This record gives sequence, structure tokens and C-alpha cells, in this order.
Amino acid sequence: MTHPAASVRPRELVGKVGGMHKADKVSLNNGVLMDQLGYGVYKVPPGDTRGLCTLALESGYRTLDTAALYGNEDGVGQAVNDAVANGQVQREDVFVTSKLWNDNHGFSATLAAFESSLAATGLEYLDLYLIHWPCPAKELYVESWRALEKIYHSGRVRAIGVSNFQKHHLEQLVRETDVVPAVNQIELHPLLQQHGLRAFHESHGIVTQAWSPLGRGAVLTNPTIGHIAAKLGRTPAQVILRWHLQAGVTAIPKASSRERIAQNLDVYGFELSGFELAAIAELEADRRFGSHPDQVN
Ligand SMILES: NC(=O)c1ccc[n+]([C@@H]2O[C@H](COP(=O)([O-])OP(=O)(O)OC[C@H]3O[C@@H](n4cnc5c(N)ncnc54)[C@H](OP(=O)(O)O)[C@@H]3O)[C@@H](O)[C@H]2O)c1
Repeated sequence: MTHPAASVRPRELVGKVGGMHKADKVSLNNGVLMDQLGYGVYKVPPGDTRGLCTLALESGYRTLDTAALYGNEDGVGQAVNDAVANGQVQREDVFVTSKLWNDNHGFSATLAAFESSLAATGLEYLDLYLIHWPCPAKELYVESWRALEKIYHSGRVRAIGVSNFQKHHLEQLVRETDVVPAVNQIELHPLLQQHGLRAFHESHGIVTQAWSPLGRGAVLTNPTIGHIAAKLGRTPAQVILRWHLQAGVTAIPKASSRERIAQNLDVYGFELSGFELAAIAELEADRRFGSHPDQVN
């Protein structure tokens, strides 16, 4: 069976092309390329999703992050299919992620949930499918992962990964199953820098993807970030996203206007100095804006 991973076209890595920005790419542990920056659609109302994802694609994003929970997988898929139909992109230029919701853990339920998500998007395959939360009390994430492995081997998803997994959850998957997760999508921003988990990811070839990379917007008003932004003539969002990139982290900021969507991808034309990185390192506060993975089941 031909796996879509084998047919990824080589392409330019970075830059501003025709007035729009493009994210650099990272290579996942199976060679599939993913953008460092994507557009996330948590809490984007279903009726707005197609339009906002179209704006994101027009602004240069090629990675879109949705989930069964968000109720807007169809809008994401419609935007991709629109862009393919009007010749703006080819399907293989776009990277679509969705996630298994907590109610559907277990081998058969996971297989069925993937089918529902894929059908909702109206796409022939997904690029990345994640277990949204480990739900430790259910004790089913290993079974669910085995279902993701089966889907992966079927060729209908180009990579599989997890979200909100802690080190011990990852260790169990690595010990008991065959495919190492390509990605762990976790809450990560300057107030929650996740150094221990990032080091574990690095040692196992797992790409770290930051959710709520702007701390749900709350970190934008941090005085240190504001000071750096003013000094560099950039916005606080751009400083935070640039920090993610320089930390080797990928991120999926959400925004609701053309201006903010474009601004969040325009982070390749400047660099934070060692001094500025050190000042942001000081902001670590173990502060979560979302739930703790042990408490979600
Ligand atoms: N795996 C998981 O468990 C999980 C959990 C949460 C989120 N996620 C994913 O991560 C994505 C991002 O996380 P998030 O939506 O929670 O938070 P976020 O991206 O950290 O922050 C979004 C907030 O920042 C504001 N914002 C964005 N860009 C801005 C800019 N340039 N200037 C000023 N304000 C700006 C947005 O406002 P407006 O929208 O009003 O523009 C919104 O209020 C989600 O959409 C979802 O795809 C995953």
C-alpha cells in the first residue's frame, strides 16, 4: 500500500512569497514534514470555521488544527477542499490535524471515531491524528494507541501522535506498543515552559507542539513580553511565537481576524537575543490556563 508519507513533495522551506508568510517545516519521526506554526480552531464557532480557515490559508498557513470536540472539523475540511478546488493549494501542501475525544477511548471506539472525524472533514486522509487526552482513570490509552497504529498502517493518516501526555504515559506507549508518537501537543507558553517533558520528547524524537501558545491571550499583557515587543517594534504575540520557534517548539495559535492571523505567521523576520530569551525564561511560573492531564477523564 502506498503511504501518503512517501509522496510528500520537496518544497521551499521558508519566507515571504507573493506578500504572504510561510512557516518553516519540521520533520516528524517518519519523515513527514509539518509546519512549525499552524492555525488552531478551538472555540472557533462552527459557522465561522470555513471562513477563518480560508483566511488562514490565504495568509500562508498550511497547517490547521481541529478536534472532534471542537465541532468544526467540517469547516476545516471545507476550507481545504475550497482551496484545492480553486487551485490555491494542492491537498498535499496542507497539513490537517484532528483528535480523538475522551468518550471514544478503546480500540473499536477509536477506529469508529477516526472514521467520523475523517468523514466530517470530507478529506481522503488526515495528516495527523492525536489522542486528545490520556484519560488515565479509563486505563485505555494503550488500546486507543493500538487503534491509531492500525489507522496509520492503513495509510489514511500520515502521522499519529498524542496530546496532553505526561512522561509516564509516553514511557508506557514506548514500552508496550510499536510506533513512537510523532507529536505530543501540550499546553506550553512562557508561564508554563515544560522543560522536563520537552527534554523527554527530544530524547525520543517526538515533536513538541504548543497548545494555547499565547496562554489563551493572557500572556500578551505580560510586562516583560511587552517591553521586548516595544524594543523590537513587534507585537507581544509575535515575540511569544518567536520564542516558541527559537525554543524548537511548534505552535498552533488561534486568532479571529485577518490581521491577527497574518501577524502571527509574520515571525520569521527577526530574532530574540540571548538576553531576551533569558528574560522570558525567567517567566516560568508553572501556570496552566487549561486542565491538568491527571484531572481529565
Ligand atoms: N490539545 C489540547 O488539549 C488543546 C487545548 C487547547 C487548545 N488547543 C489548540 O491550540 C490552539 C490555540 O490555543 P488557544 O486557542 O487556547 O489559545 P492561544 O492561541 O494561546 O490564544 C488565543 C487567544 O489569543 C488572542 N490572540 C491571538 N493572536 C493575537 C494577536 N496577534 N494579538 C492579540 N490577541 C491575539 C485570540 O484572540 P481572538 O481569537 O479574539 O483574535 C485568543 O483570545 C487551539 O485553537 C486549539 O487548536 C489544543
